[in-house]
Amino acid sequence: MPNKLEKFAEFDTFQNCTYLPFEKIKEGHPLKGKWHEDYFENQNPIILELGCGKGEYTVGMAQNNPNKNYIGVDIKGNRIWTGAKFASLNNMVNVAFVRTRIDFIEYCFAENEVDEIWITFPDPQPQKTRTRKRLTNMLFLNRYKKFLKKDGLIHLKTDSTTFYEYTLEVIAENKFPLLYSTDDLYENNPSGKEELTNIKTHYEQLFSARGAKIKYCCFKLH
Ligand SMILES: C[S@@+](CC[C@H](N)C(=O)[O-])C[C@H]1O[C@@H](n2cnc3c(N)ncnc32)[C@H](O)[C@@H]1O
Repeated sequence: MPNKLEKFAEFDTFQNCTYLPFEKIKEGHPLKGKWHEDYFENQNPIILELGCGKGEYTVGMAQNNPNKNYIGVDIKGNRIWTGAKFASLNNMVNVAFVRTRIDFIEYCFAENEVDEIWITFPDPQPQKTRTRKRLTNMLFLNRYKKFLKKDGLIHLKTDSTTFYEYTLEVIAENKFPLLYSTDDLYENNPSGKEELTNIKTHYEQLFSARGAKIKYCCFKLH
């Protein structure tokens, strides 16, 4: 297994990875508004995994759904490396990764370009002073609104009761349609979707091993 520096070096060679640093956000991501035509070369739905880490959902769902396109987003290139390497070795043409801060996500995608968002085990940011950093804070949801289709779903999987309850509050306060919610996904999978329990991320495995219950909710922004 390569070390962190070797992973960074290889990351730059992957055809399925791009990087959007702060200095470039004014120009926007070169594929913004062109992901279908210039990268995937099809009109299939685009699904994002935010805070993808090693990209288990991005790669797992892409294998199960070859007629959909998946993009994992995270700031940590050495984590993305795992998913990007796997997708590259397996010639997965429906996978891409973007290394950037999710705070800049609106510079990566154009209006209506994205069909669905998955947020998988986000950093819970439990301190009250860090609420604005939570990926389901309205600051972030307003960014997603700029490119998520009107009917687009947002899926959240988390071990954190604080983060889960906080998200349900945001949904209720803003009267967003809530399709499913459960505080124990493995006891009750309300949507019945197999990918919710079949795909387990690195962090999910860590938290589950400690006995944490996995929470899930699915909602829309309109
Ligand atoms: C707890 S890890 C979960 C990783 C993966 N989804 C999993 O379940 O194994 C949270 C991930 O979110 C990323 N992350 C958190 N805040 C971010 C932000 N504002 N922009 C980009 N990535 C972020 C971190 O780098 C980290 O990889």
